[in-house]
Amino acid sequence: MSDSRRVTRAPKLRGSLRVPGDKSGSHRALMLSALASGESTIVGLSAGLDVASTSTILCQLGAHRLDSGATVTIFGPDAGLTASDRPLDCGNSGTTMRLMAGIVSAIPGQHLLVGDESLSRRPMDRIGEPLGLMGSRVTGPGTPMHAPLQVSGVARLRAINYRVPTASAQVKSAILLAGLHADGPTFVHEDVRTRATTETMLHQAGIDVRSVDHLAGRSVELRPGRPSARAWSVPGDPSQAAFFAVLGLIHPDALIEVRDIDSSPERIGFVSVLQRMGGDVALRSDHSSTNLSTQSSELVATEVHAHEIPSVDEVPALTVAAAAASGVTSFRDMGELRLKESDRFAGSMKLAASIGCRVWAEGDDFFVEGLGSSARFDAFVLEAGLDHRMVMSGAVAGAAGNGCAINGVGTVASSYPNFFDDLESLR
Ligand code: S3P
Repeated sequence: MSDSRRVTRAPKLRGSLRVPGDKSGSHRALMLSALASGESTIVGLSAGLDVASTSTILCQLGAHRLDSGATVTIFGPDAGLTASDRPLDCGNSGTTMRLMAGIVSAIPGQHLLVGDESLSRRPMDRIGEPLGLMGSRVTGPGTPMHAPLQVSGVARLRAINYRVPTASAQVKSAILLAGLHADGPTFVHEDVRTRATTETMLHQAGIDVRSVDHLAGRSVELRPGRPSARAWSVPGDPSQAAFFAVLGLIHPDALIEVRDIDSSPERIGFVSVLQRMGGDVALRSDHSSTNLSTQSSELVATEVHAHEIPSVDEVPALTVAAAAASGVTSFRDMGELRLKESDRFAGSMKLAASIGCRVWAEGDDFFVEGLGSSARFDAFVLEAGLDHRMVMSGAVAGAAGNGCAINGVGTVASSYPNFFDDLESLR
């Protein structure tokens, strides 16, 4: 199968769709189910390859999985997970590697975490340091340390009181998951509130975990314990909805709805950014779900700060919105973008430049001078570089603008295998 794809301009976009189950929620639903004793069920699990990597590893460690229609059943072993003598392959998934490092830190024995070329370039000292303080040992080549990672797990870890130096939900989560097996309460502090998926789901699984917000930050206290088996329901992924939000706004004849997405405050910052740009985009919630709707709008430039969209997952999509806006959009404090599946700092700028925008960077900030309308976008070729979000951002720019060709398109399956079917369904 060819790994390249052409995306042509869509004359008109209409439709309502459901994006995959939230990737963060899906990883955690699998992990907490496997850590529990007995049978848990999950509906809405993401079918992406990242989540499949987590599932495969948990089965290697002793959990069992049964799929029946839309329901996934996980059986957590009564005696707990045990070490595998084979490498634990995290594929392209940073969440798998970092959270799994926290889990295996508390499984006695040696664990080898490996990843693909992209994941093997990403910094892992950010989890190696706190997990080391807790009494496990995480080693790997390079400075900063990267995969393959060797983790020496121990049955009982030390509780720590730790301030996460960079805003990272993955680091916070690795520590909290390890903290389930600590010898006392674990405290994690963050200066910028990142997604609370781990805390929320641990609480739902019966763990004593409390959070206090202060200014922009948050402190979390977790007492050791074993998660209870339960029924999980994973809402749609707001970071995937962001691609359709941008597409609906910048396309001149569009009306798109994305149903049932996670609307936690740390996940929907991109909606406020787009509204500030003049976008007609709205979240509507009833008692059970939140839907996002979006329609063609004339956008104006804005200033986007990383703390508005912690984890910065939506920045490549927002760069495409900036390219269609009138004026110069500033993206501030975006250093973390360089450390994602690809260097998205360079990748987002390159995408905007290939569309025809003037772009420049100053330190960790970058700037996009918008063209004022997606009709003015140049056709372009994108090298995806093992980065699913760059594929989807490129496709949105191509479908709203004047087409594109994407090389390395297959990597979209890491989070959204049906992305192009869903995109086509809107035409
Ligand atoms: C995730 C955290 C984020 C995000 C990633 C998923 C998670 O990374 O980029 O897609 O599930 O915890 P950070 O660790 O940078 O917050």
